[in-house]
Amino acid sequence: MNHNAWLGRAAAGAFWVFLLFPGSARAVPLAGYPLMTAPVNLTDRVSLQRGARTFVNYCMGCHTLRYVRWSRVGRDLRLNKRALRELMFLQTKPTQMMLNAMPVQEATRWFGAAPPDLSVMVDQKGVNWVYTYLQSFYLDPNRPTGVNNAVFYRVAMPDPFWQLQGLQKVVYRKVSENGGTVDRFVRFVPVTLGTRSPVAFRRMVGNLTNFLYYAGHPDELKRIHLGIWVIAFLVLFTVFAYFLKREYWKDVHRKHPHEK
Ligand code: HEC
Repeated sequence: MNHNAWLGRAAAGAFWVFLLFPGSARAVPLAGYPLMTAPVNLTDRVSLQRGARTFVNYCMGCHTLRYVRWSRVGRDLRLNKRALRELMFLQTKPTQMMLNAMPVQEATRWFGAAPPDLSVMVDQKGVNWVYTYLQSFYLDPNRPTGVNNAVFYRVAMPDPFWQLQGLQKVVYRKVSENGGTVDRFVRFVPVTLGTRSPVAFRRMVGNLTNFLYYAGHPDELKRIHLGIWVIAFLVLFTVFAYFLKREYWKDVHRKHPHEK
């Protein structure tokens, strides 16, 4: 889907939800919201392939991976030519970086902040933060996008998964802490039903986070594959060395020439 249409639908969706469920506005950041643990596993190639597809479909309209080449992704994730072409969609040169056509200045005007390049985002914020962030949007009528985020207060990014996850609102409690009052997170309450089950949604975000982690550490994947070969070689070498040793010691174990 073209993302202007997507934004339009998001705005329309949020509008109806506010009409139906007013009064969940909040003015201060949420406290006490725990980070979730991201299921990063670079040896799970299927997860990386699914994550790449989710990234292209749901994030690349706004975000880039400036340091990642399409062909590299194709090679690392073992995509054949056709699968890579499908992933690249309208882009034609596999030697190009994973860029998009979003003009930075306009984007800044549209969203109030330019969507940052995500090549090294996972390292800046931490992989668990990114995993949590993508699942923690909640309705907030005071925001131009209609949503806020439990780990990124007053975020400029609209919720990319409002349909898949379903919209949610936050329940919080005012507590005094260190001489001031804070909004302590209690729970999220679903407001609309997502098109994915919570389990399937979480798995999808897990795969996406896995892919984003890979995008920041392409050499780690190479190291893992290389490591397997190195260990296989060492095991094989140990076997050879053992037989070689037996061969050498065969003669030594025979009677010593000075022995009677
Ligand atoms: C409609 C445009 C748009 C889409 C689609 C979008 N983002 Fe964003 N994203 C933004 C903007 C704008 C910001 C900057 C937010 C800010 O600074 O307040 C942002 C910020 C982020 C950040 C935090 C960066 C920081 O400064 O800490 C992450 C991580 C991120 N996006 C990941 C994603 C992922 C993953 C997807 C796909 C599921 C996605 N975004 C889809 C526009 C978008």
